[in-house]
Amino acid sequence: MKSNIALIGFMGSGKSTVGKRLARRLGRNFIETDHLIEQQAGMSIVNIFKSGGETEFRDLETAVITSVSDIAENSVIACGGGVVARPGNIERLKSAATVVYLQTGTAALNDRLAFSRKRPLLDRPDREQFIRELEATRRPLYEAAADITVRTGNRPFAAVIDEIIRKLDINESPNQ
Ligand code: S3P
Repeated sequence: MKSNIALIGFMGSGKSTVGKRLARRLGRNFIETDHLIEQQAGMSIVNIFKSGGETEFRDLETAVITSVSDIAENSVIACGGGVVARPGNIERLKSAATVVYLQTGTAALNDRLAFSRKRPLLDRPDREQFIRELEATRRPLYEAAADITVRTGNRPFAAVIDEIIRKLDINESPNQ
């Protein structure tokens, strides 16, 4: 198995929370690509979208995915939901990581994202319909990129993490 695990999935599918806890449990580093993008740009994702639009954000995202894929070792990488928007991102990620798709139905996504203020793509009056349509567009891309798929929805995080570890056949050391 490759030494990194990359988590992909729609906004609100639990990538950050699952990623942090999975990394802690496996004694690995946790990397969040959105956080690196903000560091690199010196501003929040909301402000990147405001000043340079989605194209600027996607360019930064591709640069971060490229360097993380080159450098990361022994890490759990939580990717932004739009990482599949550019095929090159997935190619790079797959060269460095086993890809885990956290799959969540749109009802749960709508619940979780109803009050999100940090996601510029959702800053629109028809949010629910937009989520349904974007999820339907992206779902086949997540599926094509995934080495394994784990359902999240309203399941407890511990059950999701157990399933990832089992499906990836990871041996945890006894003292972890
Ligand atoms: C995006 C998802 C966000 C963030 C940006 C764009 C997307 O990350 O990268 O707002 O295109 O789906 P999360 O999936 O962590 O919310």
